[in-house]
Amino acid sequence: MKILGIESSCDETAASVVEDGFRLLSNVVQSQIDIHAHYGGVVPEIAARSHIEAINPVIDKALADADCTWGDIDAIAVTYAPGLIGSLLVGVLAARTLALLHNKPLYPVHHVEAHVYANFITDQKVPLALALPSKQPAFPMLALIVSGGHSQLVLFRDHGDYELLGQTQDDAVGEAFDKVAKIIGLPYPGGPSIAGAAERGDTHRYDFPKAKLKNAYDFSFSGLKTAVLRAVQREVGKDHTFPSHELPGLLTASQRDNFAASFQQTAVETLVERTTKAFHDFSPQSVVIAGGVAANRELRRQLAESLPIPIEYAPMQLCTDNAAMIATLGYFMAEKLPLTDPYELEVIPSLSMTKTAWSK
Ligand code: KG4
Ligand code: ZN
Repeated sequence: MKILGIESSCDETAASVVEDGFRLLSNVVQSQIDIHAHYGGVVPEIAARSHIEAINPVIDKALADADCTWGDIDAIAVTYAPGLIGSLLVGVLAARTLALLHNKPLYPVHHVEAHVYANFITDQKVPLALALPSKQPAFPMLALIVSGGHSQLVLFRDHGDYELLGQTQDDAVGEAFDKVAKIIGLPYPGGPSIAGAAERGDTHRYDFPKAKLKNAYDFSFSGLKTAVLRAVQREVGKDHTFPSHELPGLLTASQRDNFAASFQQTAVETLVERTTKAFHDFSPQSVVIAGGVAANRELRRQLAESLPIPIEYAPMQLCTDNAAMIATLGYFMAEKLPLTDPYELEVIPSLSMTKTAWSK
């Protein structure tokens, strides 16, 4: 069964064809990072307009790369929640139109849940050459989902059957990477730039606090971000009245690298400690990490070191936003879910993955 996935929830326009929920036939991602980097973050109106320009060529290329015509496609899966409303609308309207035009079943996919399904892609068509996991994760599966908008620990008993163990009470960890990058003067998106600077920095130069919360699986990253801001102000001899956008200009390159390394160390340790605790409390068969921050090498290294079972990771290209994860989850939904009426499918900008029609 071949599923066409369509993703446009934020600043990546993406389409992909995945066969039987594990074989990647094409993976087209058109990123708008260069456009938004100019503004230091995603500008919703510009994102929506860029999706409109990109969506048809991106879908055409996904079909061509997969050597597919519409006759070969069995169903369409599209991100309908959560995300920027204007961005979501472009992908959903394209998917609804194509489902009607080509008479294909349509499956509405939750973006955050789909991130987890990047870990289910274990095979690919030549010339794709991604470093894929050797097998699909077994249930029960513990998932650490860490992106620009979400930080949560979820226990999956089966496809569509999961329990939210904990989540962030304020900023998502990716958001903290992005905000700290801004404070110390590193380019958007902050995750990769902090990871790069951290390689040159001293992880123990600054000691940042870790939030202690009532629920042992919850997260909080806003205090960490503020602690970095205060430490930067102290380091350059300024107080809170000094304009924060002028702070980076006063930091030396090595101070900046040390801030990046010390911040990353605290954020990663927090994620690893919570995940390891959940592992010991629930004894899952497998652990996966998902979302943009799952591309972080230090997180991968420290998690592998602290878990008593081997862990496999999805390739970096499938951790950040893509449509292969949408098509893969679409396959498992197609096996179990009733059909969605293309005329009825609406976007939902804010929706927990535990509140979808599919989740139990
Ligand atoms: O999943 P994603 O592509 O988009 C959302 O659904 O949010 O995640 C984007 C987030 C951004 O905050 C970005 O800074 C972060 O993932 N990110 C990273 C790395 N690569 C991307 N964070 C830490 N280390 C990385 N290597
Ligand atoms: Zn995402």
